[in-house]
Amino acid sequence: MSKWEIVLMSVLSSLYLSNAYKILVIFPLPGKSHSILAEGVLNHLSRADHEVTYVTSIVPEKPIKGVTVIDISDYVKLPTHLMNLKSIMDNTHNRDRLSHLPSMLNISRNVINNVPVQTLLSDKTQQFDVVIAEWMYNEVYAGFSGVFNCPLIWFSTVEPHWMVLQLVDEVPNPAYTVDILSGNVPPLTFSQRVMELGLQIFGKLLNIYITSVNQEVYEKHFVPHIHDRGYPVPPYEELKYNASLVLSNSHVSMGIATRLPPNFIPIGGYHIDSVVKPLPKDLQKIIDDAKHGFIYFSMGSNLRSKHLPAEVKQDLLNMFGELKQTVLWKFEEDLPNRPSNVHILKWAPQQSILAHEKCLLFITHGGLLSTTESIHFGVPTLGIPVFADQFVNVARGVKKGYAKKVDLSYTMAKDLKVAIQEMINDSRYMKKIKELSFIYHHRTVSPGQELVHWVEHVVKTGGARHLRTHAATTPWYQKLYLDLAIILLIIMIALKYLFRYMCCSNGKKVLANYKKKQN
Ligand SMILES: *[C@@H]1O[C@H](CO)[C@@H](O)[C@H](O)[C@H]1NC(C)=O
Repeated sequence: MSKWEIVLMSVLSSLYLSNAYKILVIFPLPGKSHSILAEGVLNHLSRADHEVTYVTSIVPEKPIKGVTVIDISDYVKLPTHLMNLKSIMDNTHNRDRLSHLPSMLNISRNVINNVPVQTLLSDKTQQFDVVIAEWMYNEVYAGFSGVFNCPLIWFSTVEPHWMVLQLVDEVPNPAYTVDILSGNVPPLTFSQRVMELGLQIFGKLLNIYITSVNQEVYEKHFVPHIHDRGYPVPPYEELKYNASLVLSNSHVSMGIATRLPPNFIPIGGYHIDSVVKPLPKDLQKIIDDAKHGFIYFSMGSNLRSKHLPAEVKQDLLNMFGELKQTVLWKFEEDLPNRPSNVHILKWAPQQSILAHEKCLLFITHGGLLSTTESIHFGVPTLGIPVFADQFVNVARGVKKGYAKKVDLSYTMAKDLKVAIQEMINDSRYMKKIKELSFIYHHRTVSPGQELVHWVEHVVKTGGARHLRTHAATTPWYQKLYLDLAIILLIIMIALKYLFRYMCCSNGKKVLANYKKKQN
């Protein structure tokens, strides 16, 4: 190789490398759906040739090119009772909206205070161009961007809501924007509006507590590393509100149209591969033989159908047996005495199943990923929500007109049968989901391309400060023009006294003149 060729090659390779960024991705929650979303992010970044370090408690099954995994599964665990269907049905499990909060807070401490993560933080050869962290009631991961002195991107797993919008913009008006876990759908009634306002005020108070816990975690486990690297130590309150963007796993076809700031990018559906994988042979045969189409039943990856009480399982089997459609039930164990039209799948290639034109109905727990996939592939849903955002997702589907809801209960087989029959015999549900599916697909670019574009945009522009609106920094009294109101009030009071003074002093003169004339 001549000298010139070597120079040329090094110039070219540095040009090439300058487009490859080092990215730290933090998705620590030990839930399957969180890891599916995380791996979607990794796949897109990997295909764009970026180098990713991934902090997770669920290691990907197959290695992904350019991705280094930091495994924290030994330190981060969700309490198992959270996912037991029977204890939820018997109401022995606390389904309160806040019951998961203490464990969320504990998780964040464990995510940071462990050997692998502390090793990463103290290794001064580690540099990143940007940090992407999942937001889940927790802002303490902003500390990573302080340690690596680089921009931060929040990843929000659900539809836009005030808690995450306030991090990069402002709290939206609760009169028409609902809380993350609220089942209300605008337009809101008077009592719903009051409720949403209450939820915001309550959430704000809760946030004071969360922040005090996180502040301590930040001081203890991040700040020493920031000092070590010789970077300025930002106050936690500033770091928390300093993200460049929010990448949001949402789309207007699935949620409610919400006003979004320019640094909030909806990329819902990016985790779905654009190419549908072929079905396994045996499953393909079952579906090909389904003369009347088929129904797919899955309660997702966290809930185990085997925890269903035995009598409910039997009732469901009997009920499915009475249908003329084929039923594919994702279930972890084989069930004896199955009717011939019911097939158990221990593992279900959900996307390929939903993509099949004979798929008439999806019976689901209403998780956000399943909801996204039903819209992506255009299959109406029958929701049996169990916890967290599932109630909201199902409520929105019902309101949009492509879904029905059945309560998780000991009599749900009976309720399901009525709902299944109604949905299959009424073409409105199918028509509605096809409409939404069109809206969902009708975008300028695919959500995966959008994801990569905005991550690169943040790095290339050194934190995308130009996308920040002043909504975040304008004090609330200025937004409400309370300062103007006070000035007007002062002027009015001053005028009132002035008039009184003038009129009275005039009055006295008039009176004095009158008295003079009388004399
Ligand atoms: C906020 O982010 C910008 C861009 O990423 C960075 O330049 C700035 O130092 C950050 N400020 C604080 C207080 O962290």
